[in-house]
Amino acid sequence: MKSLLEQVEEVRRSFEESAANSTEQLQELRVRYLGKKGALTTLLKTLGTLPPSERPTAGERLNEFRDELERRLEQKRLELRNAENARQEAAERIDVSLPPRGRRAGAFHPVTQTLHEIVGILKGMGYSVALGPEKEEEFYNFEALNMPSWHPARDMQDTFYFPDGSLLRTHTSPVQVRSMLEHGAPLRIVCPGKVYRRDSDPTHSPMFNQIEGLLVDKDVSFSVLKGSMEELMRAFFGRRLKSRFRASYFPFTEPSMELDVECVECGGKNPSCRVCKGTGWLEVCGMGMVHPFVIRSGGIDPDRYNGFAFGMGLDRMAMLKYGINDLRLLFDGNVSYFLAGRDA
Ligand code: FA5
Ligand code: MG
Repeated sequence: MKSLLEQVEEVRRSFEESAANSTEQLQELRVRYLGKKGALTTLLKTLGTLPPSERPTAGERLNEFRDELERRLEQKRLELRNAENARQEAAERIDVSLPPRGRRAGAFHPVTQTLHEIVGILKGMGYSVALGPEKEEEFYNFEALNMPSWHPARDMQDTFYFPDGSLLRTHTSPVQVRSMLEHGAPLRIVCPGKVYRRDSDPTHSPMFNQIEGLLVDKDVSFSVLKGSMEELMRAFFGRRLKSRFRASYFPFTEPSMELDVECVECGGKNPSCRVCKGTGWLEVCGMGMVHPFVIRSGGIDPDRYNGFAFGMGLDRMAMLKYGINDLRLLFDGNVSYFLAGRDA
């Protein structure tokens, strides 16, 4: 029969040979050596079979051995934990020296930005926002604006009609009469919105955005109109872009004019420029003194009140401000054109 010491040696050797590579395996080891049916417990049970004189020394020896096993298990536990920590650290390592990825934050569409800015400037001049329907009646879009069905000016705006005779508004001007009927005089409103025409080329889109302005008061002069437009341009572009007023014609204003801004694409130097077609100018706004017929359509007495109105192409203002050379890009699903240069 083997002596107790020999048996302890055997248990120790087998313990040394056994590996624990995980917390579970370590727990198994603990059970196998220190558990109720473990190797050490089995040895402790043999104590009773020894002669009484040998029991204290043998007992002490086994206690020491138990302490040793405890120590070694604890050591293994720490080793496992450190290894686990090191693995985790490696996996979750953050390289703070890497360059940042850049942010693709959302942004307002250039036309929306333009709209916000222009509305903001006009609010500062005392205008309030009014809105009107995109599906409009012939009356507000044409008749009330001094354009009866036989009027040749209706040809200027090729119109999308609904079967019931209503139409997609061709300009924001129908809001003029709607606002006058609703609020009376004096009045200062600005109306941004989508309008529709059968048009498509680098400076014309079948759906585009206008912003209408209408001021009705007593003794309004043409010079206030010109001054307001000049101030609006200066505030919007933040610098003096070359611009010109040009005499024009609208059935609903008299006198009428249009505002052109220098072509930012070619500066007037390219005879085959697709933006200005070689003219050096881009038309951005029609305007004039509101025709007495229209004032009356709005339920206001033209002998007591007069006013001015303007209708500005928002998309063209955005083109000029952001250097976009084809208006249709504004309505294209491909955003790479606008993101180009933003990540740099
Ligand atoms: C009008 O629509 C008039 N209602 C403007 C007006 C209002 C005059 C109040 C007097 C008083 P016009 O058709 O020129 O006018 O259009 C106004 C502006 O809209 C143009 O100067 C241009 O900048 C823009 N625009 C016209 N057609 C298009 C189009 N197809 N695509 C993009 N912008 C356009
Ligand atoms: Mg025009």
